Amino acid sequence: AAARTLFLLPGDGIGPEAMREVEKLIPILNERGGGFETRSGLVGGAAVDAHGAAISDEDMGHALAADAVLFGAVGGPKWDGVPYEVRPEAGLLRLRKELQLFANLRPAICYPALADASSLKRELVDGLDILIVRELTGGVYFGEPKTITDLGNGQKRAVDTQVYDTFEIERIARVAFELAKTRKGRVTSMEKRNVMKSGVLWNEVVTRTGKDYPDVALDHMLADAGGMQLVRNPKQFDVIVTDNLFGDMLSDVAAMLTGSLGMLPSASLGAPDETTGKRRAMYEPVHGSAPDIAGKGVANPIAMIASLAMCLRYSFGMVTQADALEAAVAEVLDSGIRTPDIMAPGCREVGTAEMGDAVAAAYRERLAG
Ligand code: NAD
Ligand code: IPM
Ligand code: MN
Repeated sequence: AAARTLFLLPGDGIGPEAMREVEKLIPILNERGGGFETRSGLVGGAAVDAHGAAISDEDMGHALAADAVLFGAVGGPKWDGVPYEVRPEAGLLRLRKELQLFANLRPAICYPALADASSLKRELVDGLDILIVRELTGGVYFGEPKTITDLGNGQKRAVDTQVYDTFEIERIARVAFELAKTRKGRVTSMEKRNVMKSGVLWNEVVTRTGKDYPDVALDHMLADAGGMQLVRNPKQFDVIVTDNLFGDMLSDVAAMLTGSLGMLPSASLGAPDETTGKRRAMYEPVHGSAPDIAGKGVANPIAMIASLAMCLRYSFGMVTQADALEAAVAEVLDSGIRTPDIMAPGCREVGTAEMGDAVAAAYRERLAG
């Protein structure tokens, strides 16, 4: 069989620290016929330092050619002064845009062992299982014009543009409805139709698309009220579908409900290829490069590890191996091993590498048994 190719882009800060723990899992999969081949590249500040751009054309080529991309994190204070066009985050945005990864799946799942690490009361988050479906290649992130103009009178004007076409809203809505069918069958769409034209169109297109999914219950919330409801009573939600910017903010909120940003993975998917049916995909933690803890060996690698589980599930259909990896993570948490961000009384505090080793050992055992 042809090799399964993974392109690793560890990036900056804790990105490489977390990626190292994922690299411990690949040989375990390959011992059992996984057939994975990996290649690594540079992205973010690491690429700015090496090439003067947040990702090189060569590495973009590798990303386009691979079956899936695993992405760590980018950014940090070292690059705060670089021009906007080459800032580390530009590498991530270029990958999303050129790979046409329009659908960003951000699950917020509360592991029972971590319910007390949440900023909310245990009963509000215990058993929480939300999926945020964020539109990722449109909206105000990419709309033109996007400019700062000197008005010549000591004033400047900054313009960002929110743009959505019908097809962009329809295709992300379909992703949300399809996923809801495999879950609790509910979709909540969030926009601000009370102040934004794009919100009016968003609401209209999602409503019309929903008619094709009679088994899925659809409701709509204004995005600000949705944020409020997420912290008031998060378990009311199943799938949330929203635009690029609202999805960015709401997914950080949802992530924190589960205990730590260091826990949550994401998948960014493109459309299936018309002839092969294969879809481009990139998997990354929701968190960033965490400059405050980078280099200390204390970052929680679980978000990155869980991103590999999503990769096995969505890019390779390796459901058994994905389930086993998620179960291995839960088992390690149940055993009381914790990185500092999720530390609790009576648990044992470990660093990044030790957490990764514990997951790898549990995973090897599960795949064998
Ligand atoms: P961040 O997610 O990097 O960190 C926020 C807080 O969460 C920090 O206190 C950090 O220590 C903690 N944290 C995050 N991940 C953790 C983990 N795995 N284990 C333990 N603690 C963890 O967000 P930020 O500080 O706002 O941004 C830092 C940099 O990262 C910025 O340059 C930003 O643009 C970038 N960023 C990148 C991505 C990405 O690459 N996908 C995402 C978000 C932010
Ligand atoms: C995320 C990040 C990115 C975003 C940044 C780093 C460009 O915050 O993936 O959530 O805003 O989408
Ligand atoms: Mn974000």
